[in-house]
Amino acid sequence: MKIAVITGASSGMGKQFVLALDKSFSYDEIWVIARREERLKALQSDVKARIRAVPMDLTDEAAAERLASVLKETQPEIKTLVNASGYGKFDEFANLPLEVYDDMIDLNVKAYVAVTYVCLPYMKKGSEIYQLASYSAFIPVPYINIYAATKAFVLSFSRALNVELKDRGIKVIAVCPYWVKTEFFDRAVTENKVVNRIDRYHEPEKVVARALRDMKRGKDVSVVGASDRFRAFFMKVLPHRFAMKIWVKQQKKNTDK
Ligand SMILES: NC(=O)c1ccc[n+]([C@@H]2O[C@H](COP(=O)([O-])OP(=O)(O)OC[C@H]3O[C@@H](n4cnc5c(N)ncnc54)[C@H](OP(=O)(O)O)[C@@H]3O)[C@@H](O)[C@H]2O)c1
Repeated sequence: MKIAVITGASSGMGKQFVLALDKSFSYDEIWVIARREERLKALQSDVKARIRAVPMDLTDEAAAERLASVLKETQPEIKTLVNASGYGKFDEFANLPLEVYDDMIDLNVKAYVAVTYVCLPYMKKGSEIYQLASYSAFIPVPYINIYAATKAFVLSFSRALNVELKDRGIKVIAVCPYWVKTEFFDRAVTENKVVNRIDRYHEPEKVVARALRDMKRGKDVSVVGASDRFRAFFMKVLPHRFAMKIWVKQQKKNTDK
């Protein structure tokens, strides 16, 4: 049985990956993972492939083990894995409780590693892995500091894994969009002294379409939008100190106004 496994499938880009991958008619089942079970089940009305909801909180220590045991029982071939769960929070580092950062690291870092690890034995030549990193992976980002650091981890992890898996014919791509119009901001934006200048958004459809296209072209990083690709290039050559200065100017704290 050929399947896709998609985390963060209950909304945003994860959900968009479900819809886009289904259009290829390449999957017997699409396994969808997130906490909101009803939303996962509701995906069935939008797709042709069978949806298998695997509701779980990926920050639970036993989550990866549970996924591993369902995979062992079913013995599918995983053609595509998409890690699209994750969240961030805009604030000054010291303002948020430490538990928030622990939870964010568990979801954005540990769960990506664990889900990838347990899925890999079921992948073959031609299988593909999409890891949702972020534009914030390219530089250190004050006021969404830990989130950006988790995404830098995902970028580094994905690119190195892509090299390691070359001999097995499995490709890995880090998807690094600038802001995308999703529920991400419902969780990221809270009452605090940091002003969030969200100047523009990409649509999730475009991010996913670009990622699929970049995967076909053999890229290991996908950035949607010509101007963002241009700026990403500059971030590689500019000293990060300078890039951070520009960002901080944009995202001025209320207290500094
Ligand atoms: N939106 C942006 O501007 C942007 C830009 C670059 C990168 N990204 C990254 O892209 C990925 C997708 O984000 P999005 O924008 O599509 O946001 P979103 O709509 O908020 O989706 C996040 C997904 O993660 C799932 N999730 C959250 N906590 C979870 C947990 N503890 N266990 C299991 N699943 C959990 C959510 O489902 P449940 O709540 O049902 O569990 C949801 O399906 C994230 O990694 C995000 O960091 C976002």
